[in-house]
Amino acid sequence: MADKLIIFDTTLRDGEQSPGASMTRDEKLRIARQLERLRVDVIEAGFAASSNGDFEAVQAIANAIKDSTICSLSRANDRDISRAAEALKGANNGRIHTFIATSPLHMEKKLRMSPEQVLEQAKQSVRFARNLVADVEFSPEDGYRSDMDFLCQVLEAVIAEGATTINVPDTVGYAVPELYGQFIKTLRERIPNSDKAIWSVHCHNDLGMAVANSLAGVKLGGARQVECTINGLGERAGNCSLEEIVMAVKTRKDYFGLEMNIDPIHIVAASRMVSQTTGFVVQPNKAVVGANAFAHASGIHQDGVLKARDTYEIMRAEDVGWSANKIVLGKLSGRNAFKQRLQELGVVLESESELNAAFTRFKELADRKSEIFDEDILALVSEESVTQDKEQYAFVSLAQHSETGERPQATIVFTVDGKEVHGKSDGNGPVDASLKAIESIVESGAEMVLYSVNAISGSTESQGEVTVRLQNSGRVVNGVGSDPDIIVASAKAYLSALNKLQSKADRVAAQG
Ligand code: KIV
Ligand code: ZN
Repeated sequence: MADKLIIFDTTLRDGEQSPGASMTRDEKLRIARQLERLRVDVIEAGFAASSNGDFEAVQAIANAIKDSTICSLSRANDRDISRAAEALKGANNGRIHTFIATSPLHMEKKLRMSPEQVLEQAKQSVRFARNLVADVEFSPEDGYRSDMDFLCQVLEAVIAEGATTINVPDTVGYAVPELYGQFIKTLRERIPNSDKAIWSVHCHNDLGMAVANSLAGVKLGGARQVECTINGLGERAGNCSLEEIVMAVKTRKDYFGLEMNIDPIHIVAASRMVSQTTGFVVQPNKAVVGANAFAHASGIHQDGVLKARDTYEIMRAEDVGWSANKIVLGKLSGRNAFKQRLQELGVVLESESELNAAFTRFKELADRKSEIFDEDILALVSEESVTQDKEQYAFVSLAQHSETGERPQATIVFTVDGKEVHGKSDGNGPVDASLKAIESIVESGAEMVLYSVNAISGSTESQGEVTVRLQNSGRVVNGVGSDPDIIVASAKAYLSALNKLQSKADRVAAQG
């Protein structure tokens, strides 16, 4: 039987560390359910000791998700580890992932600790964690830039204390594939008890090599766990992307010879959900999940694919959740057709009421847009899920007027805690006027650091998806809104960002 490769998803922890990508407990729970559908082996749900909000998210996910192992990150100290264990109490399978930096630079400048102190703390923490749970992962942070002799000493010691997984992070994305693969191999060869733990790779993408490095860690180094995120989300240039690693190992099974539990049919829906929730748009040419990943524009390619699809296609779009038939539904489509299409796209709505609400929104959209594409349906259900949460601000309607030579005017109606309010403003353009109309009521004082519009399904008939990034008092959030009218989409995105700013402020206030 082929060896198994464990897929460890850290979208909800390392992915969330990306500025503006923070998610609410309910958003994280929704994504965790999608990861469970994908049959991810381990879900790193958060960093329980970092905030009350993160603790609650890890706890909610541990209570709700039963098929995947649920993991919480924790620094190498008793308080963090106890918090992680407490949050994981309801899990069928819970894992504590504890870490401490081992590179000379991090130990000296960041931790201000001697190597002897770091070694002691690593051992003590793994011992403490093993008394609380059976499944303990240890990461030497900045492991790839650590001294090989010292790293061997630390890892041998933590395995002796009972660490069941050893993860080797390339924290700053400095590695190159061959050297990283060799690094893991050397560690496994030199550490006498290395066979007592599963070896894991964790690569950042600063030089665009996170996936290549992870694959080298697997192939050359013998690692059997890969840490990754949906869409490669993560701080700076992000993490190793789940969809790329999974499809590489699957498509090139002839080379890697590894089995995985993953069901790739849910990949596109997961990608869409993470992008919609965090406001991080997926670039069109992104492998596997980008809008162009399976589009053949040149005549030669189209001709080849029509004659025999494997002339230019190495994997099938429908296997990762794209549909072959792109125009899917219209205004005459019924509830059953809608439900079936959702199932084909790998989207499962939790309740009948969620399905009914999504169907109502689908009908409203179909009245305004003759052809509904898969991308529209995915955007619609993601937005529907977001609006199920109790939001402080909710869009009602917008009127705006713009004419060449005149300053645009906008009037907006939205609710604040359920109470309708009206705002009015002019602006440089209709979007500017609409957002200023919102600010005339809310007076958030937030600074807009990013505004972007993306056509969900290509043409001018398409829905526009707008991302707005706001910054206020050191907090950064992204809001997303979609609508065939991009000014309405902009207003929805702005209100969604204000809701996130508010919920972040509440979370900080709750921590005291
Ligand atoms: O990149 C890193 O070093 C990490 C560790 C905490 C595992 O994310
Ligand atoms: Zn990381």
